[in-house]
Amino acid sequence: MGDEIKKGLMGVTVDETSISKVMPEINSLTYRGYAAQDLCAKCKFEEVAYLILNGDLPNSKELKKFEREEKKERKLSKSLINIIKQMPKKSHPMDVARTAVSVMGLEDKETTDNSQKANLRKAMRIFSKTPVALAAFYRLRKGKQIISPKEKLSFAENFFYMCFGRVPNKDIVKAFDVSLILYAEHSFNVSTFTARTITSSLSDIHGAITGAIASLKGPLHGGANEEVMHMMNKIKKPENALNWINNALDKKEVVMGFGHRVYKSGDSRVPTMREYFGKVAKIKNDKKFEKIYDIVEKVMIDKKNIHPNVDYPTGPTYHLMGFDTDFFTPIFVISRITGWSAHIIEQHSTNKLIRPLAAYNGSQHRQVSSIEER
Ligand SMILES: CC(C)(COP(=O)(O)OP(=O)(O)OC[C@H]1O[C@@H](n2cnc3c(N)ncnc32)[C@H](O)[C@@H]1OP(=O)(O)O)[C@@H](O)C(=O)NCCC(=O)NCCS
Repeated sequence: MGDEIKKGLMGVTVDETSISKVMPEINSLTYRGYAAQDLCAKCKFEEVAYLILNGDLPNSKELKKFEREEKKERKLSKSLINIIKQMPKKSHPMDVARTAVSVMGLEDKETTDNSQKANLRKAMRIFSKTPVALAAFYRLRKGKQIISPKEKLSFAENFFYMCFGRVPNKDIVKAFDVSLILYAEHSFNVSTFTARTITSSLSDIHGAITGAIASLKGPLHGGANEEVMHMMNKIKKPENALNWINNALDKKEVVMGFGHRVYKSGDSRVPTMREYFGKVAKIKNDKKFEKIYDIVEKVMIDKKNIHPNVDYPTGPTYHLMGFDTDFFTPIFVISRITGWSAHIIEQHSTNKLIRPLAAYNGSQHRQVSSIEER
């Protein structure tokens, strides 16, 4: 029987998970059974992080304990701060995040302990310290002083504070929090599958998350939110949008922020994020990107029947919040650490080495000649 090749593992079910699912009956992404948009409406990101890592929503006592632990771990070691100070200022912050998590693995006293309890503790440390490392780099590359984390601030507030030195109004913080909730988990996407593959050799959580960050960087995955902003900057103004998108489609270009391997008739996270993008645009009194957004979206749906994915609204939202474009995917990282960690723990609990086959299409058997004869 010939080998049947499923390029890109398209349509292949490789394992089970209890963490998230796109439920067709409600046409929505769900985390541990809860619709992501319902979580956005009723919870803050810390509650969702707890849910993803622990399986259930926390009560207030559990949430307080979780928040206390997250705040306690916010400090970076002196050596990690020094390493970040020595990084080239032009480094992509995704590479900074990747290196920072890798260094955390060198420093963590439990690196080689893959028990569930140790993995939860390590996940908390990575979750808590990675935003601190990223914000430090955000400041340093602009020639500014690093701002130490503040315990009284929430996860989202603290990230704004460490990057900009102040916390914006509560509606902006809520929009950011919503984006973190929507980015937190999405089953066997490429970065999560990378993390699970690394884990399947019984390697450790720092290595698996380091690999996942490298995978998320690519423009076909998390890097798309940055590409969306580059596209909007190229379009410049709403009057150019129609021509720009028609030209791009004529040239058969891939339009970033559209299409999805799983959702073929619309990403269920988009309406929520689109709503918060609108709120941020209103607060910032800047409707330009919203207008470009709507024109490009309409053409993509009318002409190609390809719908936006969540990276389409997050890109311009983060821009309006004041973040540099190359920080959009790192923001995705600080959220997705929760999903990756839950998958790493799940993989350890039901592990089977991931080792697929390949159909060989190289040379037939050949004799090795000596170097003089070649
Ligand atoms: C996400 C993505 C990689 C999914 O890819 P996939 O499941 O392998 O689907 P394909 O790339 O095979 O796309 C199927 C068809 O739709 C077209 N298509 C898909 N996404 C498109 C896009 N963003 N722009 C233009 N055409 C697109 C493909 O060209 C292909 O057309 P064809 O059948 O005529 O060749 C793809 O949609 C893409 O590259 N999107 C842009 C990057 C992005 O936003 N990534 C973030 C994902 S959350």
